[in-house]
Amino acid sequence: MTASSAADRIAELRAEIDRHNYRYYVLDDPEVPDAEYDRLFRDLQALEHQYPELLDAASPTQRVGGKALDRFAPVRHRVPMLSIRTETDIGPGGARAFDAQVRRELGLGEADPPVEYAGELKFDGLAISLRYEGGRLVQAATRGDGETGEDVTQNARTIRAIPLRLRGAAPEVLEVRGEVYMSRADFERYNARQRAAGSPPLTNPRNGAAGSIRQLDPSVTATRPLSFFAYGVGEIKGWDAPATHAEMVRALVDWGLPVSRERALARGAEGLSAFHQAIAAKRDSLPFDIDGVVYKVNRLDWQRQLGFRTREPRWAVAHKYPAQEELTVVEAIEVQVGRTGAITPVARLKPVFVGGVTVTNATLHNADEIARKDVRVGDTVQVRRAGDVIPEVVGVVLERRPPDARPFAMPKTCPVCGSPIARPEGEAVARCAGGWQCRAQRKEAIRHFASRRALDIEGLGDKVIEQLVERERVRDPADLFSLDAAAVAELERMGAKSASKLIDALERAKSTSLARLLYALGIRGVGESTASTLAEHFGALDALMVAEPSRLQQIPDVGPVAAAAIQAFFSEPLNQKLIARLRAAGVVWSEAAQPRTADRSLAGKTVVLTGGLESLSRDEATARLRALGAKVAGSVSKKTDYVVAGRDAGSKLDKARELGVTVLDEAGLLSVLAGQALSR
Ligand code: IVH
Repeated sequence: MTASSAADRIAELRAEIDRHNYRYYVLDDPEVPDAEYDRLFRDLQALEHQYPELLDAASPTQRVGGKALDRFAPVRHRVPMLSIRTETDIGPGGARAFDAQVRRELGLGEADPPVEYAGELKFDGLAISLRYEGGRLVQAATRGDGETGEDVTQNARTIRAIPLRLRGAAPEVLEVRGEVYMSRADFERYNARQRAAGSPPLTNPRNGAAGSIRQLDPSVTATRPLSFFAYGVGEIKGWDAPATHAEMVRALVDWGLPVSRERALARGAEGLSAFHQAIAAKRDSLPFDIDGVVYKVNRLDWQRQLGFRTREPRWAVAHKYPAQEELTVVEAIEVQVGRTGAITPVARLKPVFVGGVTVTNATLHNADEIARKDVRVGDTVQVRRAGDVIPEVVGVVLERRPPDARPFAMPKTCPVCGSPIARPEGEAVARCAGGWQCRAQRKEAIRHFASRRALDIEGLGDKVIEQLVERERVRDPADLFSLDAAAVAELERMGAKSASKLIDALERAKSTSLARLLYALGIRGVGESTASTLAEHFGALDALMVAEPSRLQQIPDVGPVAAAAIQAFFSEPLNQKLIARLRAAGVVWSEAAQPRTADRSLAGKTVVLTGGLESLSRDEATARLRALGAKVAGSVSKKTDYVVAGRDAGSKLDKARELGVTVLDEAGLLSVLAGQALSR
């Protein structure tokens, strides 16, 4: 390749990678799989390595690289970064008060139409200002005191959602104002990795974002999964501003800046209240933390007319939601035993209202975490509950520690079965060695075996399992099938009628599929999707039971750890006996030699089903989609290709629309199953 054709190819690769970043971070609609993106990236790196004279700071390969700093240089904001007034009345009264004040200050009368507002989320991260000159990112600064912030350019460059170059015709100068944040999933994943490595986790996504952007060493920031949303502008030169905030935000999107889709125009106080309520209802299902909503007068001329009062604009207000972190007292620390024997310490709390619910227990994860946070019985702690994540103790208020606060000691033996508790070298989790001997593990295993996605035994709830295991009626899942109606009817809160219903359900559950059975067995590392891949590849249980780890690892989704766990499970004589007893009890599963059909038209596609279907059951739909090669997932993400929305589809459908995922109705699903190709 000549130097000039290398320059062309480099420009082409940069443009293509920038475009994929835009589709991923701004449109939420990636066009190519990660592997393809990685390939382009490596090609570009190789060429740049070969032609170092063609390097450019705005190249997508140049995100990390700066040296660690001694301190951050101060940055004077040319347009100050203001804060927003917080309205304390979170009911409709608060919206009315704000709207009334805006109307009064604009001199509007009763006859004038309602004021239009831009409703946005109030992101819970750290404010940042990004300065683009000639379309290139030249500086990033924190808010600081609003007048002077800190230069965090090197760190901001590591955030892939922040473009290094703007798209299209960019103004001469553009300062973008927005929020650096960490999504809840990224926060959880990062912390899980930290805990597994015995390293300190982040306290909450907000601190995660704020702390990461203020790291002196940009290579540390680069390891933190940060994201960014734009919500406004500072200085602009060389651009005719539009008439409204909404149009200005739209221009940001076109320049390649990520803006949350959860924004809407609202008319008058009623519109504001409706927006507030709509967002409150979906707060838990948003992928990131918010602490409220922000209302902004949409007309920019009116914003200028309203102006500022001290450091707050008169044209914007924040409306908060109940806090997702509160203080309460640890009354006891107990341990729970999970299905695989994992011992989880749990704090019993003085009831506290947080994140919209009353919380009485919070996980403490493991012994290292307790030691690191130094949580003691009697301590006042900060409790966090955000989204559907289980409540968590994030820290101790040491000033409030009573003199008699007791440190926690991990018990040496299982509180349920008395077996030793051991913590394998290098692992964070301690486990009860009791296995099937431990009632807690038995209960959890049976609960899992009977769960909807496993053998789906209707009527076998926690209370029933509890009694069956306590009375030694059921020692393992196979025992379930030898229960008779009379024995079941003896249980508390069980009449003859519900007993016979349960027996019927057990009878029905006996005919199942290999995939469900594999999932039901609760082998470590074998979730629903791996179970169905295994079933598909092996066809028959006997073949899987003798498979070597090397053979298992050839299957997608099965890594060395899962392969070893599968082999260990089936080599265990007790498990072999369990399977023999299930067979003897009449449990049958379809063992089509190869359920794969020739038609793999959905290979590589991920489908999510939501809502009720009329002409087929959800399980049937799942099985048929899988037979065509699709992966059927439980939740909607950027990786989802199709969402099938049946009757009363709920939040998954909303999510699909939000992410721009193709939505099919039942008729669409049927035509796909009938072999009609889909076009995206
Ligand atoms: S606009 C002139 N919009 O809230 C108004 N701020 O008190 C300037 N924030 O830390 C701010 N979400 O980072 C605006 N949609 C949003 C926001 C937002 C979060 C933060 C901002 C700052 C604080 C302002």
